[in-house]
Amino acid sequence: MSELIGPFREIITLESTPIKGALTDDQMGIVSEGGVIIEEGKIVSVGKFDELAKEGRKISLIETDQILIPGLVDCHTHLVWGGTRSRDYTMRMSGATYESILEQGGGIFDSVAKTRSASAEALLNDLITRANRHLDDGVTTIEVKSGYGLDVENELKILEVISKGNDRLIVDLVPTCLAAHVCPKEFSDKRAFLQHIEKELLPRLKMNRLTKRIDAFVEPSAFPKDVAYEYLKTAKAQGFDLTIHADQFHTGGSDIAVKLGAKSADHLEASTEKEIELLANSDTVAVALPGASMGLGMNFTPARKLLDAGASVAISTDWNPGSAPMGDLLVQSSVIGIYEKLSSAEIFAGITFRAAKALGLSDRGRIATGQLADFISFPFDDYREILYNQGKVKPNMVWKNGKRVKDV
Ligand code: NIG
Ligand code: FE
Repeated sequence: MSELIGPFREIITLESTPIKGALTDDQMGIVSEGGVIIEEGKIVSVGKFDELAKEGRKISLIETDQILIPGLVDCHTHLVWGGTRSRDYTMRMSGATYESILEQGGGIFDSVAKTRSASAEALLNDLITRANRHLDDGVTTIEVKSGYGLDVENELKILEVISKGNDRLIVDLVPTCLAAHVCPKEFSDKRAFLQHIEKELLPRLKMNRLTKRIDAFVEPSAFPKDVAYEYLKTAKAQGFDLTIHADQFHTGGSDIAVKLGAKSADHLEASTEKEIELLANSDTVAVALPGASMGLGMNFTPARKLLDAGASVAISTDWNPGSAPMGDLLVQSSVIGIYEKLSSAEIFAGITFRAAKALGLSDRGRIATGQLADFISFPFDDYREILYNQGKVKPNMVWKNGKRVKDV
């Protein structure tokens, strides 16, 4: 049965907002005093509440001023890990670099040891807690990477935890295999390790339907460009979608992301004009990760330049125990917005339908006919209040697949 929800002071529909390039706020498709009709978890229509109310169907009345926007999509996280990396953070505050900690066998290796020794049950409980906190903050779709296993058994353990989490949670999880995070200590040759993963892990991911997506950390300290390219090319030939940790400290990753038609190239803090141009002329989404810039005390992804050149830019938390422990998409979006000089339209697009595109999804991220009924509302009478509050005001209502799952 269909249901009309409203009236909302403003609905930021993003219905026809372009998938690529710079945006101004008049491109957000705002409907004032609007309503949304939903049926079986999907949006049937959006329009003026008074007009829609004439059609005589069940109405869920919203009695206070509210601004409605699409449910948020966090297209890059590492939510399954054991232990903590507070020691790294303290060392970095005192001047140690992320790469030097990694080279000394800490950093990612520290999380690998703690994740390998954690039980699947403990990892699942932590994943559920983290994902539910995200849902409470308005995130209705979360990409989750493996990558702290680094051997067949533990990578499978993590991806199975993500699959179980998906069955138990309201929020949608999109799994990605990041076995190519760094080369484990058991292998002295990086190419040999990736060939082992190609042979022993990738077929099992397919067989057990654990993921359709492969990621690699392309960086001299992790996997150099030529080594990563061979692996990613093989994964693509096997039918996997690609996403790449690219240009975080050195360039190289975005070049192969574009060459291989990856869904997204993420990080890009070190990208220069050349990489910006490559991404802008491609179908690969450029994903900014302000949480990593804040966690490492380094520059932001050049989001302004990417948008002006014509790229599709998404914003994501990179929530992980090392470089980005905060995991708050609204706080981070407001902060990168003020440093990079982004419009509200560019930010809202970056955490909704452009982030969905980075995951290869076109069924969410806009409040429009046929889209999933995933939307969130804030207790304001003007959309500008949302980013102005820098994330300290969270949505007070959240709908996932048409069901109201938060109402405070
Ligand atoms: O996206 N840069 C590589 N991987 C993660 C960090 C992982 C970690 O430090 O545990 C990132 O920043
Ligand atoms: Fe990451």
